[in-house]
Amino acid sequence: MTIELRCIKCPKTYPVNEVRYNCDCGGLLDVWHDLESLRPQINHALFDGRLRGAPTPRVNPNTNSGVWRYQEIILPTAVSNLVSRPEGNTPLYEHPRLSTWVGANNFFLKHEGENPTGSFKDRGMTVGVTQAKLMGSRAVACASTGNTSASLAAYAALAGIPAFIFIPSGKISSGKLAQALAYGAQTLQIEGDFDDAMNLVQEVCNNMGIYLLNSLNPFRLEGQKSIPLEIVQGLQWQPPDWIVFPAGNLGNTSAFGKALYEAQQLGLIDKVPRLAAIQAAGASPFYQSYQTNFAEHKTVKAETIATAIQIGNPVSYPRAIRALQWTNGLVTSVTDQEIMDAKAMVDQVGIGCEPASAASVAGTRQLIARGIIKPEETVVSILTGHLLKDPTSTVDYHTGGWPNAQFANPPIKLEATLEAVQRVIGKKL
Ligand code: F0G
Repeated sequence: MTIELRCIKCPKTYPVNEVRYNCDCGGLLDVWHDLESLRPQINHALFDGRLRGAPTPRVNPNTNSGVWRYQEIILPTAVSNLVSRPEGNTPLYEHPRLSTWVGANNFFLKHEGENPTGSFKDRGMTVGVTQAKLMGSRAVACASTGNTSASLAAYAALAGIPAFIFIPSGKISSGKLAQALAYGAQTLQIEGDFDDAMNLVQEVCNNMGIYLLNSLNPFRLEGQKSIPLEIVQGLQWQPPDWIVFPAGNLGNTSAFGKALYEAQQLGLIDKVPRLAAIQAAGASPFYQSYQTNFAEHKTVKAETIATAIQIGNPVSYPRAIRALQWTNGLVTSVTDQEIMDAKAMVDQVGIGCEPASAASVAGTRQLIARGIIKPEETVVSILTGHLLKDPTSTVDYHTGGWPNAQFANPPIKLEATLEAVQRVIGKKL
């Protein structure tokens, strides 16, 4: 046995080539690696050697991809099977003005918006679509708040597999809708919210033998494990104290917890960073459940400017609780105003992100103000999506849509004369 599907609730296991997302008992599934037999093969030198691999114009996933570099602990298969752009290898940014605003001395941003389709979803999708190809799936599908659908559309197109995407009508940003249409996915605009679309796509996939590529799918999460792996490798295998990230359907929360658990078991890290999952206040079922110490499993009708995380009933809920246990993690929430101001700060220093991503920066700032994160601790916040994913919310913020916008930079209207232009520029200099 190298890998198998294993229930997170009961001891049952299934072969990896069986199409299923839940155990017979209803529990969610993990892709489970035999860590004992992997331990002798896995070490820093193996992964560092690939980082230094010769650059090549061809996709060479083991060296060019920040996902397949860790292939042994993600999905072992022949390189010729991989559906890769390649993805990952995203930068870790540091900016003094941002660090000061957040209140952290060692504050890094891992920019997942700099993946091929502009979000972290590509890391999961390269693995999910590779698995679909390995199993000969006749079609793939997902429900999405936008980024998953953009990524699935692209990777399915690469692999030549038909893709059906279910999106909540009028609730995804224009950049993401444009990508799905452009990459040729069949786009089904559901009259309902994300949670309705998520329920529907599961039924359709089960009834019609279509492979489901939401983060319910454990192979997706295997790819997303590469985010914390790349973070610790990028910091020369010195784990940060905290990894802070926006949380919606809880795929990342689950994947990050599993990655860090496995990395510690394999001896890649000797300390596990604490996870801080940040929800938007209007879409915070996980935070509300956390406040009851998970005695109650809350669901909500979600509403937030951060449409990417506008989710009221996250599917990976139990896996995410386990991730918090593995990492001594926590959950908090931030308001839409805090999200948009944090986003404007990230944008203003020249880095830029979409609204949901900025929840991680707003959350870091809040946790420092509350004394939970100490200013001298090392913090990596994840920016999950690119600035251009949601131009409408950005333009709105800067043009009066947010009366309390702290960092609005409105355009200046003026006559087309040299005198008028020079007067305006003169005042600004
Ligand atoms: N940030 C962005 C930009 C996202 O698109 C998502 C999720 C998240 C954060 C939350 O991650 O679901 O793993 O907790 N977007 C999904 C989608 C739901 O359909 O694109 P999560």
